[in-house]
Amino acid sequence: MSSHLIKLNNGESIPAIGLGTWQSKPNEVARAVEEALRKGYRHIDCAWAYGNEKEVGEGLRASGVPRSEVFITSKLWGTYHSRVEECLDQTLANLGTDYLDLYLIHWPVAMNPNGNHPVFPTRANGNRDIDESWELKDTWKGMEAMVKNGKVKSIGASNFSQKMLEKILPTAEILPAVDQLELHLYNPQLGLLDYLKSKTIVPQAYSPLGSTNSPLLNDDVATEIANKYGLKTADILLAYLLAKDVVVLPKSVTPARIESNFTGALAGYSKLTPEDVAKLDGVAAGGKQKRLIMPPWGIDLGFDNWPLVNPNK
Ligand SMILES: NC(=O)c1ccc[n+]([C@@H]2O[C@H](COP(=O)([O-])OP(=O)(O)OC[C@H]3O[C@@H](n4cnc5c(N)ncnc54)[C@H](OP(=O)(O)O)[C@@H]3O)[C@@H](O)[C@H]2O)c1
Repeated sequence: MSSHLIKLNNGESIPAIGLGTWQSKPNEVARAVEEALRKGYRHIDCAWAYGNEKEVGEGLRASGVPRSEVFITSKLWGTYHSRVEECLDQTLANLGTDYLDLYLIHWPVAMNPNGNHPVFPTRANGNRDIDESWELKDTWKGMEAMVKNGKVKSIGASNFSQKMLEKILPTAEILPAVDQLELHLYNPQLGLLDYLKSKTIVPQAYSPLGSTNSPLLNDDVATEIANKYGLKTADILLAYLLAKDVVVLPKSVTPARIESNFTGALAGYSKLTPEDVAKLDGVAAGGKQKRLIMPPWGIDLGFDNWPLVNPNK
């Protein structure tokens, strides 16, 4: 396991730096996973919906690192909220493993399992075909069953605001171990982080570098701190989150970046002072607040800075 681990509320530990795999093309992702594992990563973030889990599995095997030493996460897709085990079994077969370390509900949005498309069903008016009668607490029951049958070690949420977590917490037998969220310099969600801490739920940062063509990589404040320590801006963006006990999931298919994101994040983590962190905390509040990932669900997910209506309409 990588040197920096964070304890989960069920006693398991999660490596604080994981490789993201969203938008990593099938012909690139096996190499990226193999490279990451050879360079010290011990955590890979996957999802059924990314459509590349078979190739992730090839990379895992090619690396020669034993399965037991790698923390693997995947996610339940929206059309499978009533069929958790069916989605999980596809993921396990694709990855070529018989268990996951962590399984997440990808979005707190159940979609019609019998709609006009297996991944993104739509209604006649073009809106996403959401099953508004489905209750998230029943999805969580399905997730808990996967811990009980031994197919996953830990379960968690993804893209759950406080409002959405409160739909599952009152009846949960097993607490969510994590909540994977869009967390970065321009969307630090400090209030939600405080709430998660009070519930012992570990936050995971997706798009920690600002995703494709990131504006964050040119941020003046992060770059100034990076220059002070002789590091890259990307290193500071990752170290900032590590300093707040957030798991980071940088995605790259570029070998040099895969390596430098890992070593640089840890170097930055060892250097950042509380003053640096406070300065970075102030960037979004100072006018740079920006959410980058907003799928057009057309419903209010309970986040600050989230459009209430379908932005594509
Ligand atoms: N739960 C969810 O709903 C959800 C949503 C989004 C993402 N995620 C997870 O979080 C992971 C990370 O998020 P993300 O993929 O959106 O974005 P990200 O990791 O913030 O950024 C990835 C982009 O940054 C580039 N990059 C990586 N390292 C760099 C560096 N050192 N310098 C300059 N550019 C660099 C990558 O390019 P190259 O690959 O070309 O190097 C890629 O274009 C995803 O892959 C996925 O596993 C989860």
